[in-house]
Amino acid sequence: MHDAMKLALAAMFVAVSTAAQAQEVKGADVFRAACAMCHQAEAQGAAGLAPPLKGSYWDKLAKTGTYVPGVLLAGMHGQITTDEGPFNGVMPTQNRLADSEIAALSNYLVQDVNGVKSVPAVTADEVAKLRAKTPSVSELRALRKQALAK
Ligand code: HEC
Repeated sequence: MHDAMKLALAAMFVAVSTAAQAQEVKGADVFRAACAMCHQAEAQGAAGLAPPLKGSYWDKLAKTGTYVPGVLLAGMHGQITTDEGPFNGVMPTQNRLADSEIAALSNYLVQDVNGVKSVPAVTADEVAKLRAKTPSVSELRALRKQALAK
């Protein structure tokens, strides 16, 4: 291969990996600023405060497309089951966050924290549409139950 071509390929590789990192860093940054005080730095959760945001069922939550961004828009309460056992608390809405931040957070949790790569990333446009018709907590609870039963 010609040196010039090698250089061009190397430059492309750097550009692509920096773009991917930029997205990753943003989701992680918003998580640290807005979520870690309850869900903890590694999203492992804390008894009596907030559930873990990782577990064997996260690919199923991810496949719904709307559950994770929906919880960020609507909040959550009532008993949920996790790999660490049942959890029953109250999460306030995070709807002050921008569409892009909610998308980045959802993708960070699904792709980076839970390693689920088979589900399309959530876009800011999708979050905007979801925000305009924010699901209720009971709709989200039904969606979660249905997804986990599959
Ligand atoms: C004040 C504490 C608090 C903050 C801040 C908070 N959460 Fe939560 N979160 C909770 C609690 C408590 C629950 C569980 C509610 C229940 O028991 O039904 C929860 C539930 C969730 C769920 C549903 C988990 C599941 O298994 O269904 C997701 C997703 C989530 N939070 C993401 C986030 C993200 C992302 C942020 C940051 C923007 C955030 N939360 C900020 C307390 C918090």
